[in-house]
Amino acid sequence: MSKPSYGVQMSGVGSAVPDARLTNQDLEKMFETSDEWIVTRTGIRERRIVDQPTEGTYTLSVEAAQRAVDDAGIDPSTIDLLINATVSAEMTCPSNGCRVAAAIGAVPAAAFDLVAACSGFVYSLNVADPLIRSGLYKRIMVIGCDCMSTLIDYEDRGVSILFGDAAGAVLLERDEDPKRGSLYQSMQADGSQWPCLYIPRRENEVCANPATDNIELGKLRMIGREVYKFAVPKLVEIIDAALKETGMTADQIDHFVCHQSNARIIESAIAKLELPADRVHMNIEYYGNSSAGSVGLCLDDLWRASKVKKGDVVLFIAVGGGLTWAVNMWRV
Ligand code: UT7
Repeated sequence: MSKPSYGVQMSGVGSAVPDARLTNQDLEKMFETSDEWIVTRTGIRERRIVDQPTEGTYTLSVEAAQRAVDDAGIDPSTIDLLINATVSAEMTCPSNGCRVAAAIGAVPAAAFDLVAACSGFVYSLNVADPLIRSGLYKRIMVIGCDCMSTLIDYEDRGVSILFGDAAGAVLLERDEDPKRGSLYQSMQADGSQWPCLYIPRRENEVCANPATDNIELGKLRMIGREVYKFAVPKLVEIIDAALKETGMTADQIDHFVCHQSNARIIESAIAKLELPADRVHMNIEYYGNSSAGSVGLCLDDLWRASKVKKGDVVLFIAVGGGLTWAVNMWRV
């Protein structure tokens, strides 16, 4: 008997951001910087920041996942697996995913956290699709959430200007049409480059660098220029590979949903690959870089505006800490 091969549909999408805004003008009061410098280098005007300790990765993940469940209109106890991509979980045990699953009524779904930094949401899509396609699982909730504000030393102007907090969630489920779901996926990592972006907990993990030496343990250290130099060609390379491998042209992609790392990084990919700019979604101006949260947040923006229709092809792309990178070409 041949193995079943199903398709995968997105049956519900949701997102959540905190109410509090941290604007460039607020940052101008905290250290030497300017709205003009930040907008020119990143495209960011404001970001959302959680009100600690009542808000955080757990609360935002629950909110986004609950919205995806409501959008899908399903009984959450029928979810088989919940994957929570994050680097900012308040607890390492239990996983954030376990608590989120319980909070939304998805017991006894399997649940775990996936750590791939900014690539986490796309990594999770890549993990979930074959699990459903093979017939092993019927319903999988994917959540990407990071509250980077909890991991930032706000005296470090190199990172405080960039990051914000957000969560995005999508409920994936079995579809009888095998042409729905992932048409192509790829994900890789190069751990030798971890000192570009890391959160050390112990002194002996710290890599000496004058730019980050004064940052306290437990807070993010980033050599932004190095990440930037890596991200620009990598983004171009993985989008190009996805198009070549599938025989698709950029014009056949309905939406490019990129991790919102920095508007300049995305714009350089648009220029180098001559992508149709009106289909490359950007909301970084209002939310900053929300690490694992950003791809799901962008998807929900498009979803709520009814811009994503059945049959559309969406290219999800991310590059981030690890260093990691991932792409998924998805037929909705
Ligand atoms: O999400 C995945 C992981 N992260 C990323 O994708 C981030 C990728 N990197 C970036 O987005 C950029 O590197 C940043 C936006 C973080 C920084 O921009 P940059 O053009 O790479 O700046 P830089 O770090 O090379 O610094 C250039 C200059 C330096 O001054 P000198 O040494 O040239 O005098 C910095 O001290 O800009 C200075 N600088 C600032 N000036 C005003 C650094 N941060 C600021 C600031 N305001 N906030």
